[in-house]
Amino acid sequence: MEYSDPNTQLKTGVTASVSTPDLGIAPAECVATERAEPCTIVIAGATGDLTARKLIPALFHLYLNDGLPPTFQIVGCGRTQMDGTEFRNRMEAALKAGGAMDPAGWPAFSAALHYRSIDYDGLASYDRLAKSLRELDDRHKTLGNRIFYIALPPVLYKTVAQMIGRAGLSTEMSNGNGWSRIVVEKPFGTDLKTAQDLDQSLHTHFGEHQIFRIDHYLAKETVQNVLMFRFANSLFEPIWNRRYIDHVSITATETLGVEHRAGYYEQSGVLRDMFQNHMMQLLSLIAMEPPSRFKADLVRDEKSKVFGALRPFPIDDLANHLVLAQYGAGAINKRPVPAYREEPDVDPESLTPTYARMKVFLDNWRWQGVPFYMTSGKRLPEKLTEIAIQFKTVPHSLFRHILGEAIVANRLILGIHPDEKITLTFQTKNPGARVCLRTVTMDFHYQQSYSGPVLDAYEKVLIDCMLGDQMLFWRQDAVERSWSYLTPILDRCEGCGDQHQMLQFYPAGSKGPAAAEKLFRQSESQR
Ligand code: BG6
Repeated sequence: MEYSDPNTQLKTGVTASVSTPDLGIAPAECVATERAEPCTIVIAGATGDLTARKLIPALFHLYLNDGLPPTFQIVGCGRTQMDGTEFRNRMEAALKAGGAMDPAGWPAFSAALHYRSIDYDGLASYDRLAKSLRELDDRHKTLGNRIFYIALPPVLYKTVAQMIGRAGLSTEMSNGNGWSRIVVEKPFGTDLKTAQDLDQSLHTHFGEHQIFRIDHYLAKETVQNVLMFRFANSLFEPIWNRRYIDHVSITATETLGVEHRAGYYEQSGVLRDMFQNHMMQLLSLIAMEPPSRFKADLVRDEKSKVFGALRPFPIDDLANHLVLAQYGAGAINKRPVPAYREEPDVDPESLTPTYARMKVFLDNWRWQGVPFYMTSGKRLPEKLTEIAIQFKTVPHSLFRHILGEAIVANRLILGIHPDEKITLTFQTKNPGARVCLRTVTMDFHYQQSYSGPVLDAYEKVLIDCMLGDQMLFWRQDAVERSWSYLTPILDRCEGCGDQHQMLQFYPAGSKGPAAAEKLFRQSESQR
């Protein structure tokens, strides 16, 4: 599928593959770095979907692959009253339903699974939990090291974080505690102010080094690879700037609609759901300066600077920089699907955008004048996540008088989904007597020549958290900078009387709203 960027209209189809010797590192050596210390993983929200579908399968898979610490315990917490046996039965059923059960590994793993019922806003519950965690530490030598994974709706983040702290469980290295970490998932607030409020609550009892804010895009292998690709090769970095790059397109489209998440999505829309977090992370990886070392805070410093360099959005000239749209009825894979407004629990007059294309600029030496187009939407024809770097055309075409044709510029695509690959397009001579050019591609498939284990995003996140490595997690200053950028746009889009005029509509299964095409055709004068 083409996403209307004119430069994607390439006459490709010819592939040149390259194979070169690598550094000779055995794949297994790249899977696990070091072994995490013994710890207890406490999951608040243990009866929820996330625990059954993602967290327990990820922990079980890690266990089967020897990726968990030598000693670990898992304590599920929830409002529901049940005992450990029932919790284990539920988790067993979930693993079976997800095709992730390994009967040989289950008995030993399940012996480390426990359940404690909890009243989320009752301190006495947390005091009991603290006591029981200390008992588990004594019995299983988990050293008082704990991860509190908050698998709950965001409205409960503040309460639970506060209660954990008040029960003394966020204190490190005293009271029978070792290290203590808290994991939260997006959304980190709904605008700048709520993000700051949430942060204040988290920081009442936890230091920044204890807080792990997940963005599952960062745990994707090919997203992590962006930095390796940019900074472990000398070839691309010299041309990674305004002199050679015409524009960058960051795309994350999906075929899925809102599914059963209207309660959340109606309040959120695509800008909060995809842009504040995932799209911004992709932007920062592509645009950041090289840190001096590959260390979490040095990398996060550079990423945060990218958000700081975002040119304030021209909210008085929205039409030339932002297209918001919502899907109407249509067809996906030839199957009819309803309009967003007809989805369960969606307001029939909803103005929530399910699609956005945004053009942004970074005010710094490297990127001045280079547009970054970010596009994300639901109910589009294809699930596609990629970053495309469009290079400039040659300064002078010496073939023009012979060919009478424009030469297609080089394009580098970092594919994240469905193809985990890197593709470089360039021009070659077509064989034959006549002078003709053709566009060929050089492709690298990420899993090429690799047969080792692959970590799912949640496995990666859990391992890093156990190791205390915050590289792949949001830091608060970046969260705030990202919100600082988006909040005025949201205020303008949601707070004015012409909201309905700003919203376009597109049929489900189409390429998106026609107005989005125009953003690609901006004049130089706007740069
Ligand atoms: C989530 C959003 O964060 O990311 C969803 O809440 C979206 O609306 C999902 O569907 C997309 O993630 P992925 O990994 O499938 O691209």
